[in-house]
Amino acid sequence: MSRIAELFSRLFRSIARSKMALAGGAIACVLFPMLLVSVALDLIGWVENPYFSFLLYLTLTPLLIIAIILTAVGIFHSRGENRYSFESFKEYLTTPERYRKIRLHAYFYTIFASLFLFFLGVVAVSSQRYSASTSFCANFCHKVMAPAYITYKNSPHSQVPCVACHAGKNSPWLVRRQLTGLHQLYVALTDSYARPLKTPVNHLRPSRETCEQCHWPDKFHGHRLRLIDKFLDDEANSHMQSAILLKIGSGGQLGRPAQGIHWHTSKQHRLYFESTDEERRDITKVTLTMPDGSTTTYLKKGITHPVTRSKKRLMDCIDCHNRPTHFLLSPDSALNDKLLTGQIPANLPYIKRVALAAITQDYKNTSEAHERIAAQLRQWYATNLPEVEKNQRSLLDQAISGTQQAYSENIFPDMNIRWGTYPDFIGHRQNSGCFRCHDGSFESSDGTVISHDCKLCHLMMAESVPVEKLMETVVRGKRR
Ligand code: HEC
Ligand code: HEC
Ligand code: HEC
Ligand code: HEC
Ligand code: HEC
Repeated sequence: MSRIAELFSRLFRSIARSKMALAGGAIACVLFPMLLVSVALDLIGWVENPYFSFLLYLTLTPLLIIAIILTAVGIFHSRGENRYSFESFKEYLTTPERYRKIRLHAYFYTIFASLFLFFLGVVAVSSQRYSASTSFCANFCHKVMAPAYITYKNSPHSQVPCVACHAGKNSPWLVRRQLTGLHQLYVALTDSYARPLKTPVNHLRPSRETCEQCHWPDKFHGHRLRLIDKFLDDEANSHMQSAILLKIGSGGQLGRPAQGIHWHTSKQHRLYFESTDEERRDITKVTLTMPDGSTTTYLKKGITHPVTRSKKRLMDCIDCHNRPTHFLLSPDSALNDKLLTGQIPANLPYIKRVALAAITQDYKNTSEAHERIAAQLRQWYATNLPEVEKNQRSLLDQAISGTQQAYSENIFPDMNIRWGTYPDFIGHRQNSGCFRCHDGSFESSDGTVISHDCKLCHLMMAESVPVEKLMETVVRGKRR
């Protein structure tokens, strides 16, 4: 016991000899217990605040490490009698009668250092876990990440961690993530990021490695019936539905050939494309390579020497599913969704028309938008349907709040994100989507054209019919 006390007093004495070591030691003494308690609280999940974790892992921990380094450097460089310099260690080790004592020192410091390293290991693992957490990605850089986070929260992937799609588990992608992560932290802190943020995200891992952790396209089969809801801009906000049978298909499985929409992702062939822009909207050249090495090249008609700015890209999931989670809807779809869920009451006359006129205007920021949307809706009803203003106030209030949400879930003036800033490639409704290639204008040298047939991808079972007539139409209707 007295030996250990002696060892400690020796350590303190050598620290006291150097100002640098003294400063480092003092800081470490304050930080160490603080960190110990905080890490314990974080590990048992007591404190759930992104700023707490940020302070803990990205501020206090590096400070503690610096303090320890200062102490060590101070001890080795202290003037006067120095028991811990390399020369004196050498002397101790070569002098047999003092060997026992030195060995004791070695044991003591090894145990001390191991315990400390173990603690640092725990901190390193937790900080890694924290920097990969959705809470860090989304909450820390509020303004930058707000669009990505809000759209994510409203999507089917709201329980999937950001890193499941944005980073990988294998080490090259991990290192890349750390580097791009540091850069992103820097641009966020210095306010020097692009508004809107750039897409495509070039450091996104090939989506086949990410998406396929959960979705296996070889397994998608056959057709899928999809109902699309719409509300007209008439007095009754008439609720209409379309039923569309999508030929989901599969990438081929158990010897069966790939077919349908997911034919593109089959491992049986490779489909490459080039575009004039990095956002891959303007595709000019498509190359299909078969397992036997034969290739077919389709060129956009009228373009013999396409100017390509993008690299040749192997088509994968996110060339169609580019917005699988950060949904940014069109004003029409945004309102249809709100009317469908009842956040905007569909029994308020003309609400679809009035709300659409309000949300499609340009506003400086979200709070101005909220104010003016409310003012416009109130004014319209006060002028045109005063009885609604008087008798159905609560309905109108609800409609206002739903309309404001339809705006603020899709438009982010701070980040320059407006209607249509990021196109969605999944269909061909608002943007060219599939029609980037399937518009009938891509031709190979032997004259085959990439199909534009309306029955290639889907059968329309019913198109924009009143909801109550849907089943009747589907059962009896003509199919297109
Ligand atoms: C289901 C997969 C998935 C999840 C989960 C996901 N993302 Fe994305 N994210 C994408 C794809 C795909 C893109 C667009 C890639 C492209 O077009 O190059 C993207 C784009 C982005 C962009 C670029 C700006 C934009 O809107 O295109 C940011 C920023 C972003 N994601 C942040 C996040 C954050 C923060 C989270 C977690 C809160 C998250 N993502 C979760 C798939 C995902
Ligand atoms: C960690 C697992 C996970 C990963 C990774 C993942 N997803 Fe999903 N995906 C899900 C879950 C869970 C759902 C929701 C299923 C449901 O609610 O029916 C879903 C739903 C979907 C849907 C259907 C949405 C709808 O409206 O029906 C599509 C399309 C999709 N994911 C595409 C992708 C793409 C593309 C990627 C890669 C960029 C991806 N997913 C990555 C788990 C994942
Ligand atoms: C050629 C474009 C295209 C490519 C490439 C593509 N998909 Fe799809 N995928 C679609 C379309 C279109 C749908 C139907 C969308 C809808 O329901 O509106 C769909 C549907 C899905 C669904 C929902 C299936 C269901 O039965 O509800 C999932 C999950 C999905 N895709 C995942 C993937 C994954 C993972 C990849 C990459 C391996 C991929 N997709 C590649 C176009 C594509
Ligand atoms: C980069 C170009 C490109 C894009 C984008 C693209 N396709 Fe294709 N697609 C092709 C090529 C090339 C073929 C093969 C030639 C053909 O069948 O005309 C093909 C074939 C198909 C086929 C027939 C597959 C089979 O059974 O043989 C379907 C279905 C299809 N695409 C659906 C879609 C859908 C849906 C989208 C949008 C979500 C889409 N494609 C986007 C290039 C593209
Ligand atoms: C290359 C594949 C492809 C071809 C060819 C194609 N479509 Fe589509 N279409 C789609 C996909 C995928 C969707 C579903 C989009 C979604 O999930 O939102 C769709 C959706 C639709 C819708 C419903 C949109 C809505 O919001 O109501 C209509 C209508 C439609 N297509 C009409 C046509 C017509 C008409 C043609 C022929 C000129 C055609 N499509 C050719 C892929 C295709």
